[in-house]
Amino acid sequence: MAAQHLLLLTCLLALSATVLTLEIENPNIFNGTLDKILNLSPRDPVPVHSLGHGRGKRASDTRPPAGRTWPKDCSEIPSDSPSGIYLIQPTGLPQLVVYCDMNQTAGGWTVLQRNRHNTHITWAESWTTYKYGFGNVHDDYWLGMEYIYQIAKQKVYQVRFVIHNSTGTMKYADYNLFGLEDESNGYRLRLGSYTGTAGDAMTSNDPTYVHDNMKFSTKDLDQDTYSGNCASSYGGGWWYSACYSAQLNVKGGITWGSFCSGNCQASAILIKPASYC
Ligand SMILES: *[C@@H]1O[C@H](CO)[C@@H](O)[C@H](O)[C@H]1NC(C)=O
Ligand SMILES: *[C@@H]1O[C@H](CO)[C@@H](O)[C@H](O)[C@H]1NC(C)=O
Ligand SMILES: *[C@@H]1O[C@H](CO)[C@@H](O)[C@H](O)[C@H]1NC(C)=O
Repeated sequence: MAAQHLLLLTCLLALSATVLTLEIENPNIFNGTLDKILNLSPRDPVPVHSLGHGRGKRASDTRPPAGRTWPKDCSEIPSDSPSGIYLIQPTGLPQLVVYCDMNQTAGGWTVLQRNRHNTHITWAESWTTYKYGFGNVHDDYWLGMEYIYQIAKQKVYQVRFVIHNSTGTMKYADYNLFGLEDESNGYRLRLGSYTGTAGDAMTSNDPTYVHDNMKFSTKDLDQDTYSGNCASSYGGGWWYSACYSAQLNVKGGITWGSFCSGNCQASAILIKPASYC
């Protein structure tokens, strides 16, 4: 009898412990219902939505539900899964909601950014807003510089920029390496070498238009190489030099080199672990 009570108590404690451990770090980009999260089953504990972007939260606050670990990025999701919204848990962070593109060249892509010409978001946001993400993971969004940095430091990543021109032709630009430096170094961008169909609009030899090796700038934190403030002049935050040949974080004027200069219909930025050959 005493043993049964002890067992029941142990179960209750285990249950309450799990309820406390599932915590979504970035509910600010998720306005849907939990059934939209494809790897959250009805048996999982209900996430405790954190407020204030979780600043100051300790990684030790969170553990995956018993017997489960969360994928560290979208490449750890089974490859026959559909594209959609998933929970991932990069090393040292609580769970993040993110869109996973599972149908583009073998899938497993973690989506950092999605934008459309007729977007409902302004993109002209502050450093702090770019740091923790904005928009809506269902459609147009920016995942957040800090989360991108934390994901990208786990493994060696490649990046794909997907661009649709104004008549809907889709092209892409791949760089075989993608890395960011930390916030104290302005989230400086580090790209590998280009292949693709859209043209290389990121690693130009012209210092006026290059984006590779640039720090990120927003209207309230000018880290570009121009005498003025590119982010104030052109809207959204970006790895500006003086100022740009590509700019995807903008309302209405999405630009990718000469493929669609100011009139691109849509863009996306995706990363996954680099392939070695
Ligand atoms: C979430 O945001 C999108 C885009 O703003 C909107 O279309 C949708 O209705 C919102 N969903 C909910 C449940 O609020
Ligand atoms: C992947 O599939 C989803 C849903 O079927 C679709 O909305 C999305 O556009 C596809 N992505 C690409 C890049 O083809
Ligand atoms: C979009 O790209 C396709 C393929 O390169 C091209 O044929 C078409 O003219 C482009 N659309 C515009 C408006 O430039």
